[in-house]
Amino acid sequence: MFQQAERLQYLEPSPTRIMFRKCWALMSQGIKVTALTLGQPDFDTPEYIKEACKSYIDQGYTVYAEDTGIEPLKKAIAAKLKKENDLDYDWEEISVTTGVSQGMFAAFMAFLNPGDEVLVPDPVYVTYNQIPRIAQAVIKPYQLKEENNFQPDIAQIESLITEKTKMICLVSPSNPIGSVMNLESLQGIADLAKKHDLLVVSDEIYERLVYGDTKCISIASLPGMKERTIVFNGMSKSMAMTGWRLGYIAAPRELQEPMNRLGFYMTAGSVSFVQYTGVNCLTDEDGSIERMRQEFEKRRNYFVEEINKMKHFSCRMPEGAFYVFMNITKTGMGSQEFCDYALDNHRLAMIPGNAFGESGEGFVRLSYATSMDVLQEAIAKLRAIDAELA
Ligand SMILES: Cc1ncc(COP(=O)(O)O)c(C=O)c1O
Repeated sequence: MFQQAERLQYLEPSPTRIMFRKCWALMSQGIKVTALTLGQPDFDTPEYIKEACKSYIDQGYTVYAEDTGIEPLKKAIAAKLKKENDLDYDWEEISVTTGVSQGMFAAFMAFLNPGDEVLVPDPVYVTYNQIPRIAQAVIKPYQLKEENNFQPDIAQIESLITEKTKMICLVSPSNPIGSVMNLESLQGIADLAKKHDLLVVSDEIYERLVYGDTKCISIASLPGMKERTIVFNGMSKSMAMTGWRLGYIAAPRELQEPMNRLGFYMTAGSVSFVQYTGVNCLTDEDGSIERMRQEFEKRRNYFVEEINKMKHFSCRMPEGAFYVFMNITKTGMGSQEFCDYALDNHRLAMIPGNAFGESGEGFVRLSYATSMDVLQEAIAKLRAIDAELA
């Protein structure tokens, strides 16, 4: 029997998959499940984007492209970052990736040595608690607490910093919480990064999905931060393009270079015709990206209002992404126990908050990237649970 490589011994399967699998198993038996598990829009990719892609295939953009990304796409991304995010990158400081997933892998593998410490939010999207382990780095969680409106506690972060701390990761808007870091938090982290010479990894994949008067600020736009920050962004979430696998990294050349070198050996570049399509889709030509954002906002408002009417559940108003992080402590159950109970007895699927880190215990993640009908069905089921527990 062949043994897996030692570097993989600490890598765990994604804990969110456990719930997905349970869900799929029921559905494959023909059992209807109300699923709030998936982190992907229920919308189809906008029509003009699909049409553009078909024409690029017909025009023969089906061969290898420049491995770090095609020039017109890099230029379009640099222009978008300048216009929408106050970020000043030369087009050669952009590289195109096969989703943000590739960017994360490249950044961790390119910059972390065994024993290096990396500060990650707790709770956070599962990858941040796993990939650094392949590099044998040590993950140090910094807490995002509900009573602090899920903003980081800068003093707690500083208390975690040692001479081995190399990197701090930010995910704003947050998966799984939906919170958006405010300027004060970003400034606090920027000051720490400069004081302790930390590399900052900023995952901004949900940056276009913010609601009300919330602004998503990139930490790289603060003074003295561009040179020490790696920004991830991509088309998956805000453009309903999860399956296209298109993302990008913005970072100064000396940070890009090792990631690009590694990137070549990982994928030899993103899909050619998808990259050409990317040039078309960044500008929201027909307003469909904005329409989807508005629809998410409506769903968020409905969902949060209904949840907060119940006895055993409560949640903060998330400012971004498409998740509600619902407090279930009044049920007296743990996160996993509650999710199992809801799935087994009510066919309602959610992800336990502790799948995203210890601080997620006492919460469940609900995705509202699903139709209003499904959300109404979910609310009815939550009401039934609420009544049952009383
Ligand atoms: C915070 C965050 N970063 C990255 C990703 C992965 O993005 P991509 O589809 O671009 O690989 C996800 C997907 O859920 C996410 O929530």
